[in-house]
Amino acid sequence: MSGRVEDHYANPDIVPRILAALRQVNGADAAITPDALAPLDHFHGRGVVATREMAAILQPQADEHVLDIGSGIGGPARWIAAHFGCRVTGVDLTQAFCDAAIELNRLTGMADRVRILQGNALALPLPDDTFDRAYSQNVVMNVADKRGMYLQALRVLKPGGRLALSNVCAGPNGGPYFPVPWAATESTSFLSTPDATREDLLVAGFEIVEFRETTQAVLADQIKDRRRMETRGLPPLGVHLIIGQRAREYRINSARSLEEGRTATIEALVRKPA
Ligand SMILES: C[S@@+](CC[C@H](N)C(=O)[O-])C[C@H]1O[C@@H](n2cnc3c(N)ncnc32)[C@H](O)[C@@H]1O
Repeated sequence: MSGRVEDHYANPDIVPRILAALRQVNGADAAITPDALAPLDHFHGRGVVATREMAAILQPQADEHVLDIGSGIGGPARWIAAHFGCRVTGVDLTQAFCDAAIELNRLTGMADRVRILQGNALALPLPDDTFDRAYSQNVVMNVADKRGMYLQALRVLKPGGRLALSNVCAGPNGGPYFPVPWAATESTSFLSTPDATREDLLVAGFEIVEFRETTQAVLADQIKDRRRMETRGLPPLGVHLIIGQRAREYRINSARSLEEGRTATIEALVRKPA
Protein backbone atom coordinates (compact mmCIF):
# COMPACT_ATOMS: atom_id res chain seq x y z
CA MET A 1 0.00 0.00 0.00
CA SER A 2 1.37 3.41 -1.03
CA GLY A 3 2.09 5.93 1.71
CA ARG A 4 0.86 8.83 -0.43
CA VAL A 5 -2.32 10.58 0.67
CA GLU A 6 -3.43 11.24 -2.91
CA ASP A 7 -3.19 7.53 -3.82
CA HIS A 8 -5.79 6.74 -1.19
CA TYR A 9 -8.27 9.10 -2.87
CA ALA A 10 -7.43 8.87 -6.58
CA ASN A 11 -9.95 6.97 -8.68
CA PRO A 12 -10.47 7.10 -12.47
CA ASP A 13 -13.72 7.99 -14.30
CA ILE A 14 -15.34 9.86 -11.42
CA VAL A 15 -17.48 12.18 -13.56
CA PRO A 16 -18.86 9.53 -15.99
CA ARG A 17 -19.81 7.39 -12.99
CA ILE A 18 -21.58 10.30 -11.30
CA LEU A 19 -23.46 11.28 -14.45
CA ALA A 20 -24.61 7.69 -15.09
CA ALA A 21 -25.90 7.37 -11.50
CA LEU A 22 -27.67 10.75 -11.67
CA ARG A 23 -29.43 9.72 -14.89
CA GLN A 24 -30.41 6.39 -13.42
CA VAL A 25 -31.94 7.97 -10.32
CA ASN A 26 -33.29 11.27 -11.70
CA GLY A 27 -34.02 10.35 -15.35
CA ALA A 28 -32.27 10.83 -18.68
CA ASP A 29 -32.71 14.64 -18.55
CA ALA A 30 -31.46 14.88 -14.96
CA ALA A 31 -30.44 18.45 -14.10
CA ILE A 32 -26.78 18.81 -13.12
CA THR A 33 -26.83 21.43 -10.38
CA PRO A 34 -24.98 21.87 -7.07
CA ASP A 35 -28.15 20.72 -5.26
CA ALA A 36 -28.68 17.67 -7.51
CA LEU A 37 -25.05 16.64 -6.89
CA ALA A 38 -25.24 17.30 -3.13
CA PRO A 39 -26.07 13.69 -2.07
CA LEU A 40 -22.73 12.56 -3.51
CA ASP A 41 -20.18 15.39 -3.79
CA HIS A 42 -19.80 16.50 -0.14
CA PHE A 43 -17.13 14.01 0.91
CA HIS A 44 -17.33 14.16 4.71
CA GLY A 45 -19.56 12.84 7.50
CA ARG A 46 -23.20 14.05 7.20
CA GLY A 47 -22.57 15.42 3.71
CA VAL A 48 -24.39 18.58 2.69
CA VAL A 49 -26.04 18.86 6.13
CA ALA A 50 -22.59 19.44 7.65
CA THR A 51 -21.69 21.90 4.87
CA ARG A 52 -24.88 23.88 5.54
CA GLU A 53 -24.09 24.04 9.28
CA MET A 54 -20.48 25.05 8.62
CA ALA A 55 -21.60 27.78 6.19
CA ALA A 56 -24.06 29.11 8.79
CA ILE A 57 -21.11 29.61 11.14
CA LEU A 58 -18.77 31.03 8.47
CA GLN A 59 -21.41 33.40 6.98
CA PRO A 60 -19.88 34.02 3.53
CA GLN A 61 -21.09 37.25 1.88
CA ALA A 62 -21.97 37.65 -1.82
CA ASP A 63 -19.10 40.02 -2.64
CA GLU A 64 -16.45 37.89 -0.94
CA HIS A 65 -13.73 35.51 -2.07
CA VAL A 66 -13.67 32.30 -0.04
CA LEU A 67 -10.99 29.58 0.08
CA ASP A 68 -11.75 25.85 0.41
CA ILE A 69 -8.65 24.00 1.66
CA GLY A 70 -8.81 20.36 0.52
CA SER A 71 -11.78 20.91 -1.79
CA GLY A 72 -12.25 17.29 -2.95
CA ILE A 73 -14.41 17.11 -6.09
CA GLY A 74 -15.71 20.60 -5.33
CA GLY A 75 -19.19 19.85 -3.91
CA PRO A 76 -19.00 22.22 -0.92
CA ALA A 77 -17.34 24.96 -3.05
CA ARG A 78 -20.12 24.83 -5.71
CA TRP A 79 -22.85 24.60 -3.09
CA ILE A 80 -21.53 27.60 -1.11
CA ALA A 81 -20.97 29.69 -4.27
CA ALA A 82 -24.50 28.85 -5.48
CA HIS A 83 -26.23 29.54 -2.16
CA PHE A 84 -24.25 32.59 -0.96
CA GLY A 85 -23.28 34.20 -4.28
CA CYS A 86 -19.58 34.42 -3.38
CA ARG A 87 -16.54 33.29 -5.39
CA VAL A 88 -14.72 30.20 -4.11
CA THR A 89 -11.20 28.96 -4.81
CA GLY A 90 -10.56 25.32 -3.93
CA VAL A 91 -7.13 23.76 -3.47
CA ASP A 92 -6.69 19.99 -3.35
CA LEU A 93 -3.75 17.59 -3.40
CA THR A 94 -5.43 14.86 -5.48
CA GLN A 95 -5.18 15.58 -9.22
CA ALA A 96 -8.08 13.22 -10.11
CA PHE A 97 -10.34 15.12 -7.68
CA CYS A 98 -9.27 18.49 -9.13
CA ASP A 99 -9.99 17.25 -12.68
CA ALA A 100 -13.44 16.00 -11.61
CA ALA A 101 -14.15 19.28 -9.77
CA ILE A 102 -13.24 21.37 -12.84
CA GLU A 103 -15.48 19.24 -15.09
CA LEU A 104 -18.40 19.40 -12.62
CA ASN A 105 -17.95 23.19 -12.33
CA ARG A 106 -18.33 23.38 -16.10
CA LEU A 107 -21.36 21.06 -16.20
CA THR A 108 -23.14 22.98 -13.43
CA GLY A 109 -22.37 26.36 -15.02
CA MET A 110 -20.32 27.38 -11.96
CA ALA A 111 -16.90 27.66 -13.62
CA ASP A 112 -16.93 31.47 -13.48
CA ARG A 113 -17.39 31.44 -9.70
CA VAL A 114 -15.51 28.33 -8.55
CA ARG A 115 -11.80 27.99 -9.37
CA ILE A 116 -9.86 24.82 -8.57
CA LEU A 117 -6.08 24.56 -8.11
CA GLN A 118 -4.06 21.43 -7.53
CA GLY A 119 -1.80 22.05 -4.56
CA ASN A 120 -0.80 21.27 -1.00
CA ALA A 121 -2.39 22.81 2.09
CA LEU A 122 1.18 23.06 3.45
CA ALA A 123 2.29 25.31 0.56
CA LEU A 124 -0.86 26.98 -0.76
CA PRO A 125 -0.22 28.27 -4.31
CA LEU A 126 -1.83 31.59 -3.40
CA PRO A 127 -0.67 35.10 -2.41
CA ASP A 128 -0.75 36.53 1.13
CA ASP A 129 -3.81 38.43 2.49
CA THR A 130 -6.16 37.35 -0.33
CA PHE A 131 -9.29 35.71 1.09
CA ASP A 132 -12.16 37.11 3.16
CA ARG A 133 -12.98 33.69 4.58
CA ALA A 134 -11.74 30.12 4.37
CA TYR A 135 -12.90 26.69 5.42
CA SER A 136 -11.59 23.14 5.51
CA GLN A 137 -13.76 20.08 6.03
CA ASN A 138 -12.27 16.71 7.01
CA VAL A 139 -8.81 17.38 5.57
CA VAL A 140 -6.37 17.98 8.44
CA MET A 141 -6.53 14.27 9.40
CA ASN A 142 -4.21 13.69 6.41
CA VAL A 143 -1.73 16.37 7.50
CA ALA A 144 0.96 15.62 10.07
CA ASP A 145 2.14 19.24 10.32
CA LYS A 146 -1.14 20.76 11.51
CA ARG A 147 0.40 24.04 12.65
CA GLY A 148 1.97 24.34 9.19
CA MET A 149 -1.46 24.00 7.59
CA TYR A 150 -3.03 26.55 9.96
CA LEU A 151 -0.11 28.95 9.31
CA GLN A 152 -0.76 28.73 5.56
CA ALA A 153 -4.47 29.49 6.09
CA LEU A 154 -3.50 32.46 8.27
CA ARG A 155 -1.09 33.72 5.60
CA VAL A 156 -3.63 33.79 2.76
CA LEU A 157 -6.52 35.25 4.80
CA LYS A 158 -6.97 39.02 4.91
CA PRO A 159 -6.53 40.58 8.38
CA GLY A 160 -9.78 39.90 10.29
CA GLY A 161 -10.59 36.99 7.93
CA ARG A 162 -12.21 33.89 9.39
CA LEU A 163 -11.48 30.19 9.01
CA ALA A 164 -14.08 27.48 9.73
CA LEU A 165 -12.93 23.93 10.38
CA SER A 166 -14.63 20.61 10.79
CA ASN A 167 -12.13 17.97 11.81
CA VAL A 168 -12.07 14.38 12.93
CA CYS A 169 -9.84 14.29 16.03
CA ALA A 170 -8.26 11.63 18.19
CA GLY A 171 -10.64 10.24 20.81
CA PRO A 172 -9.71 9.02 24.30
CA ASN A 173 -9.94 5.27 23.53
CA GLY A 174 -7.17 4.42 21.06
CA GLY A 175 -6.90 4.78 17.30
CA PRO A 176 -9.64 4.31 14.68
CA TYR A 177 -10.49 1.04 12.96
CA PHE A 178 -8.89 1.17 9.52
CA PRO A 179 -9.68 1.69 6.73
CA VAL A 180 -11.56 4.95 7.33
CA PRO A 181 -12.71 7.46 4.68
CA TRP A 182 -9.51 9.52 4.96
CA ALA A 183 -6.93 6.72 5.15
CA ALA A 184 -6.48 3.02 4.46
CA THR A 185 -3.85 2.64 7.19
CA GLU A 186 -2.28 4.69 9.95
CA SER A 187 0.56 5.68 7.59
CA THR A 188 -1.56 8.59 6.23
CA SER A 189 -3.76 9.27 9.26
CA PHE A 190 -2.66 11.93 11.74
CA LEU A 191 -5.25 12.61 14.42
CA SER A 192 -4.73 15.15 17.17
CA THR A 193 -6.99 15.66 20.18
CA PRO A 194 -9.47 18.56 20.39
CA ASP A 195 -7.21 20.23 23.01
CA ALA A 196 -4.13 19.90 20.77
CA THR A 197 -6.16 21.30 17.84
CA ARG A 198 -7.11 24.36 19.84
CA GLU A 199 -3.49 24.83 20.91
CA ASP A 200 -2.20 24.46 17.32
CA LEU A 201 -4.65 27.13 16.11
CA LEU A 202 -3.59 29.54 18.86
CA VAL A 203 0.13 28.92 18.30
CA ALA A 204 -0.36 29.51 14.55
CA GLY A 205 -1.71 32.97 15.45
CA PHE A 206 -5.50 32.62 15.22
CA GLU A 207 -8.00 33.96 17.74
CA ILE A 208 -10.68 31.41 18.68
CA VAL A 209 -14.22 32.65 18.00
CA GLU A 210 -16.02 29.34 18.58
CA PHE A 211 -14.73 25.86 19.32
CA ARG A 212 -16.99 22.94 20.08
CA GLU A 213 -16.97 19.18 20.12
CA THR A 214 -19.71 17.81 17.88
CA THR A 215 -19.17 14.11 18.61
CA GLN A 216 -22.61 13.41 20.15
CA ALA A 217 -24.58 15.07 17.33
CA VAL A 218 -22.45 13.46 14.61
CA LEU A 219 -22.63 10.09 16.34
CA ALA A 220 -26.44 9.96 16.30
CA ASP A 221 -26.41 10.42 12.50
CA GLN A 222 -23.53 8.02 11.93
CA ILE A 223 -25.20 5.21 13.90
CA LYS A 224 -28.32 5.58 11.72
CA ASP A 225 -26.13 5.65 8.61
CA ARG A 226 -24.19 2.57 9.69
CA ARG A 227 -27.37 0.56 10.42
CA ARG A 228 -28.83 1.56 7.06
CA MET A 229 -25.66 0.51 5.25
CA GLU A 230 -25.31 -2.79 7.11
CA THR A 231 -28.87 -3.79 6.19
CA ARG A 232 -29.52 -2.07 2.85
CA GLY A 233 -26.03 -1.40 1.47
CA LEU A 234 -24.97 1.84 -0.17
CA PRO A 235 -27.63 4.32 -1.42
CA PRO A 236 -27.74 4.91 -5.22
CA LEU A 237 -26.24 8.40 -4.85
CA GLY A 238 -23.38 8.68 -2.39
CA VAL A 239 -19.64 9.22 -2.00
CA HIS A 240 -18.96 5.66 -3.28
CA LEU A 241 -19.38 7.25 -6.73
CA ILE A 242 -16.16 9.17 -5.91
CA ILE A 243 -14.07 6.47 -4.23
CA GLY A 244 -15.80 3.19 -5.13
CA GLN A 245 -17.46 0.39 -3.17
CA ARG A 246 -14.81 0.56 -0.44
CA ALA A 247 -16.88 3.52 0.87
CA ARG A 248 -19.18 1.06 2.67
CA GLU A 249 -16.42 -0.37 4.86
CA TYR A 250 -14.96 3.11 5.42
CA ARG A 251 -18.22 4.48 6.70
CA ILE A 252 -18.95 1.50 8.94
CA ASN A 253 -15.47 1.79 10.49
CA SER A 254 -15.84 5.54 10.84
CA ALA A 255 -19.11 5.18 12.77
CA ARG A 256 -17.70 2.36 14.93
CA SER A 257 -14.61 4.40 15.78
CA LEU A 258 -16.66 7.43 16.80
CA GLU A 259 -19.09 5.26 18.78
CA GLU A 260 -16.25 3.69 20.79
CA GLY A 261 -14.50 6.99 21.52
CA ARG A 262 -11.57 6.16 19.23
CA THR A 263 -12.26 9.40 17.35
CA ALA A 264 -14.06 12.67 18.16
CA THR A 265 -15.29 15.51 15.97
CA ILE A 266 -14.95 19.27 16.36
CA GLU A 267 -16.14 22.43 14.63
CA ALA A 268 -14.21 25.64 15.02
CA LEU A 269 -14.40 29.22 13.84
CA VAL A 270 -11.17 31.19 14.21
CA ARG A 271 -10.08 34.69 13.17
CA LYS A 272 -6.86 36.18 11.85
CA PRO A 273 -6.15 39.22 14.03
CA ALA A 274 -7.18 42.47 12.32
C1 LIG B 1 -12.28 13.44 3.09
S1 LIG B 1 -11.84 14.39 1.66
C2 LIG B 1 -12.79 15.91 1.92
C3 LIG B 1 -12.97 16.69 0.65
C4 LIG B 1 -13.79 17.97 0.80
N1 LIG B 1 -13.26 18.82 1.83
C5 LIG B 1 -15.23 17.65 1.07
O1 LIG B 1 -15.63 17.79 2.24
O2 LIG B 1 -15.96 17.29 0.13
C6 LIG B 1 -10.19 14.95 2.08
C7 LIG B 1 -9.57 15.77 0.97
O3 LIG B 1 -8.39 16.39 1.46
C8 LIG B 1 -7.44 16.40 0.42
N2 LIG B 1 -6.12 16.57 1.05
C9 LIG B 1 -5.51 15.74 1.93
N3 LIG B 1 -4.30 16.25 2.28
C10 LIG B 1 -4.16 17.42 1.62
C11 LIG B 1 -3.15 18.40 1.57
N4 LIG B 1 -2.00 18.28 2.26
N5 LIG B 1 -3.33 19.47 0.78
C12 LIG B 1 -4.48 19.62 0.06
N6 LIG B 1 -5.47 18.72 0.06
C13 LIG B 1 -5.32 17.63 0.84
C14 LIG B 1 -7.64 15.07 -0.27
O4 LIG B 1 -7.10 15.05 -1.56
C15 LIG B 1 -9.16 14.97 -0.26
O5 LIG B 1 -9.73 15.57 -1.40
